[in-house]
Formats: sequence, C-alpha cells, structure tokens
Amino acid sequence: MAFTIFFATSTGKTEDIADRLKELLPGTEAKDVDNIGSIDELVNAESLICCIPTWNTGADEARSGTAWDDLAQDIPNQDFAGKSVAILGLGDSSGYSDFFCDAMEELYTAFLQSGAKMIGKVPTSGYTYDDSKSVIDGKFCGLPIDEDNESELTDQRLNQWVQQINSEA
Ligand SMILES: Cc1cc2nc3c(=O)[nH]c(=O)nc-3n(C[C@H](O)[C@H](O)[C@H](O)COP(=O)(O)O)c2cc1C
Repeated sequence: MAFTIFFATSTGKTEDIADRLKELLPGTEAKDVDNIGSIDELVNAESLICCIPTWNTGADEARSGTAWDDLAQDIPNQDFAGKSVAILGLGDSSGYSDFFCDAMEELYTAFLQSGAKMIGKVPTSGYTYDDSKSVIDGKFCGLPIDEDNESELTDQRLNQWVQQINSEA
C-alpha cells in the first residue's frame, strides 16, 4: 500500500518529522497541506499518514492552529472508504500535559466519519502526561511525538510505528 505523508507545521517540527518518516518509507512523498490545491489531493491518495501539531490548548475545535483545522471540517464530507489513514501528532507532554497531542483526535474522528480505515493506534504506556483528548478506548488514536522533551525517543518511536502501519495497511 503506497502512503502519502501530509503535514502542517507552525515552527517546523512537524515538517522535520514528516521528512524523517519519508526516509523510513522509500518512495513516499511528504506534502504540506498549506500548499495543496484542494482536498482532492487527500482523497486521491492511496493511503495517508497525516502529521499534525497541537497548538490551540484546550479547544474543542481547531486544535492545531494550522491548515488541518479547515480540512478537518471538510474531511467528513468526503469519501475515504477503503483507504488506510494513520495519524501522527506533535505535542509537548510536559508544558501542555493536560492537552497532550489533542489535535490528533480531531483529525482521527473526521477521517473515521469519512469511512477511512484508521490504523496506527499506540498504547499510552511509555508516555507521561495528565490528559489527552486523543486517548480513545485506552489507546492513543495515532503516534504522539514529543520533540520538546523526549526527542531521544523519536527514532525508536518512528521505526516501530512504521513497521506497525505497514502491517496494518
Ligand atoms: C502557544 C502554544 C500552544 C501549544 N499547545 C499545545 C497543546 O495544547 N498540546 C500539546 O501537546 N502541545 C502544545 N504545544 C506544543 C507544540 O505542539 C509542539 O511544540 C510541537 O512540536 C510544535 O510543532 P510545529 O513546530 O510543527 O508547529 C503548544 C505550543 C505553543 C507554543
């Protein structure tokens, strides 16, 4: 299954992770959703990895502060049936411990409503945080990455997750 990586970023960390993910998935493209022409680029992808930072602390909606916020409104109106979608979130588990990677859930729920097959859920063990809207039925609905506090764990987290989504797609 060929993945396309889609990301948005405010200060560059999510773009850096999208690039590192691309290295682990040879032949994969990484696209900034700020630069895509329309949502059709998402709809036309075979399988998707969507990388999203959290900025809008505690918000019910528009938790990313990036172009993902508008796309999340539109995704449920599209048909992603039969496509595998994996979510990856950037956050700060220490500074924003009550809202750790909250934006992942918004995107996860939007894609779920569009009929996508959601892959890449991750156990919460191994993370220290107080609360996260992205924990669903005891698991993170995607892969949390914390470059602010735990960058030394990122390589291992990415490698393990890539194996997981390759087998689940
Ligand atoms: C104003 C502000 C608000 C933030 N809010 C959250 C938050 O609610 N939850 C969280 O996990 N991280 C939060 N963060 C941390 C960022 O998500 C984190 O630094 C991320 O790596 C930024 O990614 P980017 O460089 O791609 O924008 C916040 C950071 C800032 C500066």
